[in-house]
Formats: sequence, C-alpha cells, structure tokens
Amino acid sequence: MTASKMRGLLLCALSLLSGVVAQSTSVDAYVSSESPIAKAGLLANIGPSGAKSSGAEPGVVIASPSTENPNYLYTWVRDSSLVFKVLIDQFTSGADTSLRSLIDDFITAESVLQQTTNPSGSVTTGGLGEPKFNINETAFTGSWGRPQRDGPALRSTAMIAYANWLLSNGNTSFVSDTLWPIIELDLDYVMNNWNQSTFDLWEEISSSSFFTTAVQHRSLREGSTLATKIGQTSVTSGYNTQADNILCFLQSYWDPTDGYITANTGGGRSGKDANTVLASIHTFDPSAGCDATTFQPCSDKALSNLKVYIDSFRSIYSINSGAASDAAVATGRYPEDVYMNGNPWYLCTMAVAEQLYDALIVWSTQGSLDITSTSLAFFQQFSSSVQPGTYASSTSTYSTLTNAIKSFADGFVAIHAKYTPSDGSLAEQYSKTDGTPTSAVDLTWSYAAALTGFAARGGNTPASWGASGLTVPATCQSFSGPTVAVTFDVDATTVEGENIYLTGSVAALENWSPDDALLMSPNDYPIWSITVSLPANTVVEYKYIRKDGSGSVTWESDPNNSITTPASGTLTTNDSWR
Ligand code: NOJ
Ligand code: NOJ
Repeated sequence: MTASKMRGLLLCALSLLSGVVAQSTSVDAYVSSESPIAKAGLLANIGPSGAKSSGAEPGVVIASPSTENPNYLYTWVRDSSLVFKVLIDQFTSGADTSLRSLIDDFITAESVLQQTTNPSGSVTTGGLGEPKFNINETAFTGSWGRPQRDGPALRSTAMIAYANWLLSNGNTSFVSDTLWPIIELDLDYVMNNWNQSTFDLWEEISSSSFFTTAVQHRSLREGSTLATKIGQTSVTSGYNTQADNILCFLQSYWDPTDGYITANTGGGRSGKDANTVLASIHTFDPSAGCDATTFQPCSDKALSNLKVYIDSFRSIYSINSGAASDAAVATGRYPEDVYMNGNPWYLCTMAVAEQLYDALIVWSTQGSLDITSTSLAFFQQFSSSVQPGTYASSTSTYSTLTNAIKSFADGFVAIHAKYTPSDGSLAEQYSKTDGTPTSAVDLTWSYAAALTGFAARGGNTPASWGASGLTVPATCQSFSGPTVAVTFDVDATTVEGENIYLTGSVAALENWSPDDALLMSPNDYPIWSITVSLPANTVVEYKYIRKDGSGSVTWESDPNNSITTPASGTLTTNDSWR
C-alpha cells in the first residue's frame, strides 16, 4: 500500500469515526435534555394533579390532553399500564422514591375500572377486555374495537413488578390482601381468554395478535412465580399450563420464508408491524440471553424481523428519501397505515433503538454474539462479508458489529431528536413529508417510550420474568375456557334461493366474516336456527345476514345484536330479522 493510499484510508476511517463520535455526542445531549421533559410530560398526564389532566381521577392516565382530531382524553388500559410500568421501575430501582403514592393511586384507579361494567361485559363476563374508559372512571359506551386482550396482561405485569418489590421489602400483607386480588382477576382473564380473538394494539384488526400473545405469555409466567411466593398455589398449574400453550402458539407468527414475525393472523396486510418490535422490548428478559422462542431482542428471529420492519418504511415516507439503505430512518406502526395519513410515530422509532440497545446489553453480558442464517441479513448490513458463527468479544468482528449497531441504534434516537420540537414535547406522530409533529399532542405513551429507550441506552437491565429455560411443547393445545351452547333463532322471511347466515364478534361466529358466516337451518321456517358453542360469561355481538342465489350479501340493519352468555347451561335467542 502506498503512503498516500494509507493516508486516504486513515482519513476515511477517521472521518467515519468522527461522524460516529459526533452523533453519539449529540444523542447524549438529546438524552440529557429530553429525559426530564419526558418525565414531566408523562406526569402531567396523570390525575388528579397532573398539569394537563384536570378531571382525571387519582392515578388515571390520560392518553393525551388532545380533545379533538383526535380526541384522546380517555384512559386506555394499555397506555396506562405501560406508563405505570415505567414509574414502578423507577420507584423500585430507587431512581425516584417519590412515586409511591402515585403508584398506589394507580392501583386503586385500576381496581375501580376492573369493576366497572362496560360494553365488553362485567368483571366476570369479559369486561376486563375493555380497552378504554372515561377519565372519571365511568364506562365509555361508544362503538370501539373491543375487546383488546393485551390490557389485563400489561396491567398485571406492572403490578407484579410493584408486588415483587414490596415482597423484598417485607410488605407481604399489602401484596396478598390488596394487590393479589386485582392481579388475579387479570391473570385469570388471560388464562381463560388468550385463545379468543382480540383487537390488536392499534385497535383495528380482530384476530390473534403477536403483541397481545407475547405479553399474555409473560404475565402468566411472572404471575405464577408471584403466586408461589405468596402461597397462592391453587392457580399456578393453570397459569403454567396455559403459558406453555401460549408459548407454543407464539411460534406460529414466525414466517420462516420471509424472515419476519407476522403481526396479526387476520387483517389482510403484510404483517410487518411495530407490534412485533414492541412485543420484543416489552418481554425483554436478560436472563434468557438471545432465546428465539420468546423472541428476545438479540434473538436471530427478532433481529431479522427488525430489519424487515425498518426496511418497509424506507420508500414510503418522503423524509426518509436519500437515506442510505443501511441508515436509520423514520418508522411508524406498519407500512399500510392510513390513520391521520399514515405517518411515523415517535414511540415506534424509539422502539427500534430500544431493541438494539437491549441486544447490546445481552451481547456484552455474554461476552459474545451469534450470527445464524436467520440473522445473517441483519448483520451483513454492518459488515457485508460477515458469516454465521459465534464471535467472542475479543474478536474484531464483535467490535466492528457492536460499534456499528450502537451507532445504528443512536441513529434512530437522532431521528427522534431531529423531529422533536425545541420545547421537547412529544406528540403521537411526526409528518412523513416534513417531520413536523402531528396527531395527538403530548402523548403519554410517547414520553414513556422515550424514557424506556433512554434507559436501555444507559444499559438498564430489567428484572427477569422467567423467560429463560422454557421449552416449547411439541404440539400446541389450543384452549378455550368454559363454553355454553347458544341457539340462535331468527324469524326471517326469504324468497327462493335466499339463505340466512350468522356472524359476529367471536371466533366461533367467524369474527364478522360474511364469507365464513354460519349457514342457519330453515327446518322450522320462517324461523332459521343454529346452535353454536360460545365462550361462557362473555358479551357477544352478532348479526344475521341474507345471501341470495348469486351469493350477494345483505346485512341486518344497525345496531349489532348483543347477548351475554351465561356461566353454564344454555341460551336461546328469539330474534326477528331487521
Ligand atoms: C382510533 C385508534 O385509536 C387508532 O389506532 C386507529 O388507527 C383509528 N381509530 C382508525 O381505526
Ligand atoms: C391509538 C393507538 O393505536 C393505540 O394503541 C393507543 O392505545 C391509543 N391511540 C391511545 O393512545
């Protein structure tokens, strides 16, 4: 090599290095300035004394103070639980010891919501799946994508973290007498309903959803451990059995051909979705290493998935144009998103960074990283010639890759920073065309996501929830809780060639599919009849539809019909076609 070539290479390496150093310094600065703003922004949205949440009961988290376009002045179980998990982690780690009474307010508020009868049912008939409530703790009765079955799982995960801290600090009675009854309701709901269809976390698709399944799995595992600690041994075998079944089902979302996790079993989309990235960071368990069955952040499957997810946004947002094919870019919920025009979301972009920081934490603890054929494409972004193998931390391959991945992760935080206004406030979305904040202002979840992303960047190691050493059962048992026989009778006059069908809100009624709707029998014409086995104690909505000889469909008029199935026995409807 000539001297000048050598100098050229050196300069090139130096300028790359100084670019990386400059980025990391400016990301450091963003983390320091944004952290207190995010914390304050989050607290401002919690009643009763949060600066932006007047009218919210104590411990109630508003999703955002925005009251129109969109109106988010409600409390969602998902958002609230993710937000309080952040606060509980800050409290139990000693980072902020002032939060205890707010956490106790949250416990009280959620126990009231659990008992609030709502359109999904009562506490014993499915009401725990209700996604959102009014901020004065009454039911929201408008139409909505319900139920959403991630809520009880996320809420119990937050409360279990608090319970574990209380137990280590000798406060067993509060855990057994106050927390456990609340946690148990949620976990029993998860155990009995995980196999039922659910709206996804974006409230749009009713099917099975990876995020929901993953957080349900986690909640039953840590719930079973907590139950054992406090002597509630009667629940553990049920929780463990269903956790095994859920873990088995969780594997089915993986698409081995295209190397990503398909977010939903329904919905007719690509399935590339931040759903899966959020699932990985919210079920991070450092003790499980890079386990792929639980889709740990550094697992080959989760890394392959992450690349596919990121790449799906490269060409659809104009703010991403011109970015190199391996550079960090703005990311949103899923590429087909059209809500508010379909923009990048702060919490989704931060989730990418968080998954990468989590991965770096585990590689550093293990002192090595593995590349498999599944994760090869992910790693080749950072070193095109790298090959499958195990690379110890002493190797140059390990340093090259981990340095590049750290700077890739920082790149997502840098994008988050670039599109955050100078006052540091975090809306829900930022425009895909010019990056200006859009949709709901001061989204509490955006603040929470910034705090967990920053904590991961700082090397924060969360507590284990029991992901290590699990084995996936060889065959999956699907599970439905108790069922009851319901006979649907409808008086409907038809003409030659017409038939009456039934569809509705649960899997047994084909999830509102007109194509798969159940054909009813005209034996007692004009009464059309069918008997279906439905989940017990559940609010079920349904409609009859009419198909003519050519298959064209006429729906009954609105609103939907609704029944609450009994705990046992049978039920017969007595409807007339509308
Ligand atoms: C409101 C939901 O909160 C949002 O997630 C969804 O995209 C829109 N409704 C459109 O369905
Ligand atoms: C819409 C989001 O899609 C959903 O996940 C969230 O719970 C609500 N907004 C409230 O923030």
